Amino acid sequence: MSGTAGTGRETGLIRKPESNSTVALNNSPFMRACRREPVPQTPIWLMRQAGRYMREYRELRARMSFLELCKTPLLAADVTVTAAERLGVDAAIIFADILLIVEPMGFELKFAKGEGPTIHNPVRTSQDVDRLREVDDVDSLEYVFEAIRQTRASLRGDLPLIGFSGAPFTVASYIVEGGGSRNYVHTKSLMYTDKGAWHALMSLISRALVKYLNAQIFAGAQAVQLFDSWVGSLSADDYREYVLPHTRSVLSSLTPGTPVIHFGTGTGELLELMREAGGDVIGLDWRVRLDEAWQRIGHDVAVMGNLDPVALFAGKDYIRSQAKKILEQAAGRPGHIFNLGHGILPETPVENVIALVEAVHELSAK
Ligand code: CP3
Repeated sequence: MSGTAGTGRETGLIRKPESNSTVALNNSPFMRACRREPVPQTPIWLMRQAGRYMREYRELRARMSFLELCKTPLLAADVTVTAAERLGVDAAIIFADILLIVEPMGFELKFAKGEGPTIHNPVRTSQDVDRLREVDDVDSLEYVFEAIRQTRASLRGDLPLIGFSGAPFTVASYIVEGGGSRNYVHTKSLMYTDKGAWHALMSLISRALVKYLNAQIFAGAQAVQLFDSWVGSLSADDYREYVLPHTRSVLSSLTPGTPVIHFGTGTGELLELMREAGGDVIGLDWRVRLDEAWQRIGHDVAVMGNLDPVALFAGKDYIRSQAKKILEQAAGRPGHIFNLGHGILPETPVENVIALVEAVHELSAK
């Protein structure tokens, strides 16, 4: 008699736990909403849901730097799972950063206290672009893939895990500016004065992003998000010429069957073009009305958004009223994922975030 007798395995009546969770994941409200299928209640997750507004996170960060935390898979996985379970959200997002990809490209990345990210050897000229390193493989980002595997192993079986990267423009803006920026003077100067160098830079970044995102999917991410956080600094004409072909090439090269969220801020005038570039779900910030934006880009694509992150400072009644307003604009149409219009701010009261999650679930329950 074989060792598996009586387990049902030989008859196929009992599925392996793995396939059970694949079914549960695929049927989760988040994955259903990505595919614009009906859901029992609107799924919600929050950009930057793991971060300084949480005591558990601050305690860990007191012991190590942000980059060390990103590069310690067990802890990155723990931060990811803790945030998702504490908030009661419908998806987890891997704890990482859009700038990790610049290290294998040959840049020195630092997160200085109170300063945000800095890149010490930025690209400013076509000679700088020529010197850039092609990212042949993403092996040096193995710590991200290991964090994804470890997160997947300890996350609730029906909770999808979102992988992510920056979009070509937003990554390029950090590489050229050397950090965050208000006016993107260096980035736009390169774009306007040396088209060849600009497109070469964007192509090189795009090839690296495709490898990075597909490796995250292979490691176990159920969906991925492309953050084009700062693309709203461009006019529609500039977006069309300098950004759209690159973002489109990334989005069209991702592993088929994995939903992609395409997000940006300040994008009121770019939404149709972002839609054209691709993505199964278009992320909306709070400056646009969700109903009008969805109408404009078409109801044959899903949307994510779009509460003002600052609403989370205003008290539970206000939060509930704003959640209701956004849900009314979505009008019960399949394909809405609730989120903020941008990341949670560090000073946000955790109890208000939990109140938002509860309000969205309760107000949208069918
Ligand atoms: O959403 C999540 O919970 C996953 C983790 C995540 C982080 N960064 C962790 C992080 C995600 C999705 C990001 C994306 C990211 N990183 C973006 C796109 C999203 C957005 O906000 O538009 C951008 C622009 C970055 C670049 C970046 N990383 C900046 C500008 C900063 C400094 C800002 C700040 O709040 O200090 C970071 C650091 C960073 N990334 C922190 C976290 C939790 C704070 C690090 C710390 O001090 O502990």
